Amino acid sequence: MAQFESFFLANLPEAPSFHPHYEEALQVMLKAGGKRFRPMLLLKVVEHLAPLLAEHALHAAAAVEMLHTYSLIHDDLPAMDNASLRRGHPTLHVSFDEVTAILVGDALNTHAFAVLAKAPLSAAVRIALVETLALYGGAGGMVLGQAIDCHFENQLLSLEKLEFLHTNKTAKLIAASLKMGGIIAGCDNATEKALEAFGLKLGLLFQIQDDVIDATQTSQEAGKPTGNDGVKNSFTNLLGIKEAERQKEELAQILCREAGEIGGALGDDLARIVTAYFIKGK
Ligand code: IPE
Ligand code: IPE
Ligand code: MG
Ligand code: MG
Ligand code: MG
Repeated sequence: MAQFESFFLANLPEAPSFHPHYEEALQVMLKAGGKRFRPMLLLKVVEHLAPLLAEHALHAAAAVEMLHTYSLIHDDLPAMDNASLRRGHPTLHVSFDEVTAILVGDALNTHAFAVLAKAPLSAAVRIALVETLALYGGAGGMVLGQAIDCHFENQLLSLEKLEFLHTNKTAKLIAASLKMGGIIAGCDNATEKALEAFGLKLGLLFQIQDDVIDATQTSQEAGKPTGNDGVKNSFTNLLGIKEAERQKEELAQILCREAGEIGGALGDDLARIVTAYFIKGK
């Protein structure tokens, strides 16, 4: 991931102007780090299935991380989760103002697609990547999940609806990352479907862990406010912390097995990721 990090930081969006802080705001959350979980997944798939394309895939990995970062900046706005800390830094509406946070989110969202359009990949692959990121990260994916998440604050959802919410909010972008890796690698349909299905479950696991973090960690540990999900349909609110942790454990074990079914060195690596992030990482 060191290669991704230096590529990412060398290719930050630029927009020089006489605006006193717009360009700084555009870059600050991208530079602030975070786990880079989605680019890591995309790059893993390419590294194993088409190693010669690994460098070309950096562009797509950067695009996913930009779209994800936009989703966080908007998620933190007063109208949504009203959070003042992100990736260990004050959020943009706190450091600057709400207008800046909204517009930087808009800019990172659209810039992600510019990065995909310019990536050193075939036109057919670029179009498929644009479509996938737009579908999974947009209207019927992450944005839909966020809409449901915010609309149903203070209204308890059934477990089935809870799963729909989190599948859209979080799992679809994680599934898209694996699928986009598959698209770049030119993998067959069956592999692409398997990666996507695995990603949807991995994304749910990711959100269960995120909800457990909100309920159990300090904001210093998490780099963002915790204890902030009081009114949310989080896994911990619906199941209790113990049961959420038990289900997390169970799903992590299932995913380790299913990674094995994907097979090869990629399957082994995905199983290692599940173990490192969700079993050993508690
Ligand atoms: C947080 O995402 C939002 C969720 C979808 C749960 P991450 O936990 O990946 O945040 P960063 O990228 O590491 O900051
Ligand atoms: C947000 O989920 C998921 C996004 C699509 C941004 P959360 O609201 O749980 O994410 P955190 O906990 O603020 O990172
Ligand atoms: Mg939220
Ligand atoms: Mg939030
Ligand atoms: Mg959360």
